[in-house]
Amino acid sequence: MDGTALQDKARDDTQREAVIRVRNLTNQFGQQVVHDNLNLDVWRGEVLGVVGGSGTGKSVLLRTIVGLNTPKAGHIEVLGVDVLNGPEQDRQRIEKSWGVAFQDGALFSSLTVLQNVMAPLREHTGISEN
Ligand SMILES: Nc1ncnc2c1ncn2[C@@H]1O[C@H](COP(=O)(O)OP(=O)(O)OP(=O)(O)O)[C@@H](O)[C@H]1O
Ligand SMILES: [Mg+2]
Repeated sequence: MDGTALQDKARDDTQREAVIRVRNLTNQFGQQVVHDNLNLDVWRGEVLGVVGGSGTGKSVLLRTIVGLNTPKAGHIEVLGVDVLNGPEQDRQRIEKSWGVAFQDGALFSSLTVLQNVMAPLREHTGISEN
């Protein structure tokens, strides 16, 4: 990419909305550092695939973005909301607007299919089981 193309890209980037913004993310388990100051922007409309060998930290990254893993350090914003430290109300609003398809289509193994389908309804709407 030449200088002009780089300038064009920089200008485009300032005009685009980062839907997911990860800054200086560090994940570490014991001595094992999985992410060391990782930075990532995912732009509105972008489809991003994360590729890497087994055990390189893809799932830990996604689990951290959706709040299933607490990182050692870093900052994560989704649609402008600080998902690690933001107000509970804002985080709940964001959590209702995303969906996650887990590896191998995993369901809660202790629940029936119907109970799996009902889980987000029970969690987010207070709907009763009867
Ligand atoms: N809760 C945890 N406690 C300790 N170590 C963990 C934990 N979660 C993940 N790890 C380790 O972090 C590293 C990254 O794991 P991760 O599951 O993110 O890999 P991956 O890139 O998704 O691999 P795969 O392609 O096999 O799904 C691995 O070495 C894993 O053993
Ligand atoms: Mg994985």
